[in-house]
Amino acid sequence: MSVVERVEGALALGGVALDAMFAALRRVEPDAHACYVYDLDAVAARARRVHAAFAPLQALVAYALKANALGALLEVARENGLGAEAGSLGELEAARRAGFERSARVLNGNGRTPEEAAWVAGEGVHSVNADHVAELELLEREAARRDARVRVALRVNPGIETPGHRYVATGHGEAKFGVSPAEALAAWQGRRRWPHLQLDGIHLHVGSQLLDPAPLEEAAGVALALRDESARRGAPLAFVNLGGGFGVDYARRDRLGSSSDGGEFPLEDYAARLAARVQGLGLEWVIEPGRWLVATTGVLIAEVLWVKPRDGRRFVILGAGMNDLLRPALYHARHAIVPVRPRPGALEPATVVGPVCESADVFDAAAPLPPLEPGDLVAILDAGAYGAAMASNYNGRGRLAELTLRDGRLTRVRASESPRDLAARDREERLEL
Ligand code: LLP
Repeated sequence: MSVVERVEGALALGGVALDAMFAALRRVEPDAHACYVYDLDAVAARARRVHAAFAPLQALVAYALKANALGALLEVARENGLGAEAGSLGELEAARRAGFERSARVLNGNGRTPEEAAWVAGEGVHSVNADHVAELELLEREAARRDARVRVALRVNPGIETPGHRYVATGHGEAKFGVSPAEALAAWQGRRRWPHLQLDGIHLHVGSQLLDPAPLEEAAGVALALRDESARRGAPLAFVNLGGGFGVDYARRDRLGSSSDGGEFPLEDYAARLAARVQGLGLEWVIEPGRWLVATTGVLIAEVLWVKPRDGRRFVILGAGMNDLLRPALYHARHAIVPVRPRPGALEPATVVGPVCESADVFDAAAPLPPLEPGDLVAILDAGAYGAAMASNYNGRGRLAELTLRDGRLTRVRASESPRDLAARDREERLEL
């Protein structure tokens, strides 16, 4: 079943009408003009699905918190068998708060800080993915200080091109991530230099929003070849982390309905092929999906503030902007925009924009929409990943409320930020020179 569908006319998430949810929020926040809502039952179902797909590999499926680190959502991921991939100290803390065990926590990042190194040495993780060789000195120092042992994979830049927006391609030669295969081989071979590190893994993450598994299969090939070469040089590897990247179907044609899974990343096929390919090699596996778990389970509900005709064009101005959902402005991503209540009249292209003072504040330059009026609600679909997570306070705008739906119960898990909340950070303190 699709997460979003029409129930008695109204657009519904998890079977509950979006306008009823928005009205419930308005009763406690009369000033709200938009909000995020996530269907946690759908997150649970997808968590079980990805966990089951990789069960033959006994992989640690570490959900990438950067996609959406809402505490309630993390707990659902954990309860359904997933681990946590963190990219910062804040995400490590969020993972711990949500109850992920040390053996289920993975740390990434290309700007390792002493604080992160101290955290992993003190609190424990499954593994750290080191982005370069000098970082190993920092990890070694912090582990030695606590007499701890930290498991580490080296992130390799394999020079693999991926389709899609350049900003989400991470495995090509100009990308900032990882070391060259030659550097990785030398580090594995010389790993006795870092006695407090268990340097026996390889990490690759080649890109995001992949619909075709070919680049991931190519990356797996690189990992296996490096593993063979490292073993030949006397430094066998024990685990492979293939990163995330599984894409969802933002472009689905009918937007709603059960046919909507057709254009997604072929998760089960990919996992089955990988399991068959590596059977008997005795390797441990980690994968780090973010978007796939949550994108389709979240909706951004926004009120139409104004409809402005100009020169034969129709601008629909929403109560949400690029500070709330940056993906269209940053990557030219297109999210389907659907009226919550059906409106009579032909679908005509509309330029759907936000209220931010930037010409890039456009959700869709030509969304097919019926006649709309101020006060109508629209839903921006597939906004569960990299939506609220990338929101900012630009233009003095507070971040939106976030609601969850579970077993038919609606909960406000984060209130909207008010102007007063924004002002609360400003506090003058004299610093000694
Ligand atoms: N592992 C690593 C090391 C990553 O850098 C990422 C995402 C993931 C896993 C999860 O990737 P996913 O399964 O979600 O594709 N803000 C962009 C996406 C940036 C992804 C950054 N890294 C967007 O909105 O499309």
